[in-house]
Amino acid sequence: MKNFTANSDFTISDQSVFETCPSNIALIKYWGKFVGQIPANPSISFTLNHCKTNTSVDFFGNENFSVQTFLSGNEEKKFSEKIEKYFRNIEIYLPWILKGKYVIRTENTFPHSSGIASSASGFGAIAKCLMSLDKIFSGKTDEDFKLKKASFLARLGSGSACRSLYGGLVVWGETPEVKGSSDLFAVKFPDDEIHPVFKNFNDWILLIHEGEKSVSSTIGHALMNTNPYAERRFQEARENFALMKKILKTGDLQNFIKLTEHEALTLHAMMMMSDPAFILMKSGTLEVIRKIWNFRQETDLPLFFTLDAGANVHLLFPNNNENQKIINFIRSELIPHTQNGNVVKDLISI
Ligand code: DP6
Repeated sequence: MKNFTANSDFTISDQSVFETCPSNIALIKYWGKFVGQIPANPSISFTLNHCKTNTSVDFFGNENFSVQTFLSGNEEKKFSEKIEKYFRNIEIYLPWILKGKYVIRTENTFPHSSGIASSASGFGAIAKCLMSLDKIFSGKTDEDFKLKKASFLARLGSGSACRSLYGGLVVWGETPEVKGSSDLFAVKFPDDEIHPVFKNFNDWILLIHEGEKSVSSTIGHALMNTNPYAERRFQEARENFALMKKILKTGDLQNFIKLTEHEALTLHAMMMMSDPAFILMKSGTLEVIRKIWNFRQETDLPLFFTLDAGANVHLLFPNNNENQKIINFIRSELIPHTQNGNVVKDLISI
């Protein structure tokens, strides 16, 4: 952590910066953390192409520290409080951060009510804005370091956000499987270790339930502290990570499907075994999963799913010319299980 701390060698001025940052979807899930936003196990995610947060920051130097935020033009007082607290937390890494007033305008390219986690792209975009300001104020121009520190700072806002700073497949959490991996920031999973079959995938998010999630990630992670299966889960995630690395290299799509779905269901199983227990799926989620499994059995076509900590289903399938049958099936059989017929069509390309 030491090399991310900064000395007080800076000159502030009024500045405006703008940054954009995509969301990501984990294949091996981060669920459980230790003090200081240290993940209990390594995770790996795909960065999405379309679901993004666009953020502008107007900084007024030498005014009293305050933060005002607008989400899609509407003032969000709660969000301002959260960001203020976050800025106070990271002062040791950006010594100028409390020396001015901020007006932050942010918007997501995906629907606000969709239940898609905006914390990853949101904190990713803010961290990028902060590093752009830091570059101006400190005069430091090392782009690699700037990105690494943006990932480090994003992590302190929301763990999964640190993975959004890079494209493609991204790893967070120290693991012997990936050189240079760290608990403090994310790194890119090497592109040359990825079989072409995984380089172009659709991620269509079925909005089974729109609106607030029943439990926040922060509470979910905390429940792992008393979950009797936590240690076994963390160990299994490490084993799954090693397995995933092999699968990615060899292009073993069948085992990729199996492992990705297993990880998603494990995350939900952990919540069911927590005290208090939470069931994050809705009946539509279960129906969709059942139909996907039947479809695969009948057609052998590579349609599969992952889930985040909510009811929506991420449908994963290769992005090529041979997927018309899959798309027809999604339209006729799966979309009817969404709350309002809404699907966010995203894509992963490496
Ligand atoms: C289920 O990153 O949202 O999406 O660090 O408390 O902000 P905090 O949690 P968050 O947790 C994300 C959990 C997940 C799995 C994942 O993205 O790895």
